[in-house]
Amino acid sequence: MDNKPEFRVVPSPNSVPGAERARILENPGFGKVFTDHMVTVSWDLDKGWHDASVRQRAPFQLDPASAVLHYAQEIFEGMKAYRTGHGTITLFRPEENARRFQASAKRMAMPEIPEELFLESIEQLVRIDRDWVPSGDGSSLYIRPFMFASEAFLGVRPAHSYIYCVIASPVGAYFKGGEKPISVWISDAFSRAAHGGTGAAKCGGNYAGSLLAQAEAAQHGCDQVVFLDAAEHRWVEELGGMNIFFVMDDGSIVTPPLGTILPGITRASLIRIARDSGITVEEKAYSFDQWQQDAASGRLKEAFACGTAAVVAPIGSVRHAGGEFSIGGGGVGTVTHDLRQRLVGMQRGSREDVYGWLHSI
Ligand code: PLP
Ligand code: COI
Repeated sequence: MDNKPEFRVVPSPNSVPGAERARILENPGFGKVFTDHMVTVSWDLDKGWHDASVRQRAPFQLDPASAVLHYAQEIFEGMKAYRTGHGTITLFRPEENARRFQASAKRMAMPEIPEELFLESIEQLVRIDRDWVPSGDGSSLYIRPFMFASEAFLGVRPAHSYIYCVIASPVGAYFKGGEKPISVWISDAFSRAAHGGTGAAKCGGNYAGSLLAQAEAAQHGCDQVVFLDAAEHRWVEELGGMNIFFVMDDGSIVTPPLGTILPGITRASLIRIARDSGITVEEKAYSFDQWQQDAASGRLKEAFACGTAAVVAPIGSVRHAGGEFSIGGGGVGTVTHDLRQRLVGMQRGSREDVYGWLHSI
């Protein structure tokens, strides 16, 4: 039942005309416009994976009893295709997205799509929509694989049928200011994940639960929310859609350990790049109290958020119920800038891919 289905490729008869596409690609924003095609693959308990196709992007017809609409069995991934200076199109560590998608599926009691099928689905979509990969500085094609329970059944148990889909959207910078430092709000009222919960899975429900906290951050004039742990409300975890790093005055780096946070691929890549350049990186619990003390004493020099969408975003200021403070004078620190340059350089082909992380299409 784990046979890999052959993809049926049906090019869209209504693709966006080239001139209009070029206009969109000049300033795509984030996640507002989509390419011409999508991939879908179905899974049923009795058939396994079947009916793989690449076709015109179109709405789904869903039964109102579809399990995803009631019990939120849904997972997704986020990855980017880059147009390199040499004109090739590359993906960054797509096997890691495939593996995390499998881990998320397992946690949400969903079928695990084989890595090879996941990778082929991404390649198929990028190939047919390759003209949608922007070449502008900081822009890329954001790829969104996702899967949801489509069975019409209201009993509470894992569904017996699912749809896996991949869509893509040309994007510019996630934060409008580019590398300009962002401000963060420390959430007092809300937690993102608890031990034994779904924090390490990339499931839609985690994001639904973060929206009110993010709205609260915006009300306080901040770009992003930072979540503390659910048990003690003391330990820094991550942002709504990014992991977090702290750079100390001795040049070492601290980042919260895995467990209840999303195991970010950007996080893992930066840890590797930093360690290989001689920087000590500790994956250890770091409290908000310590953060405040280190900022006040000058021990903390820089902090940054990272993720596929956000890349590496310096954190310039922090607000919380008890006040506010800035980090490193609110500017962009040298370690943050250097790590960002190295990562982006590798992703975009201007630096050597020493780890074999790029996957050309
Ligand atoms: N944490 C959360 C909650 C996220 O949504 C993301 C983005 O995917 C990340 C961290 C960073 O993960 P990655 O670097 O794999 O994009
Ligand atoms: C990503 O970085 O891919 C995410 O899923 C995060 C989201 C804020 C867009």
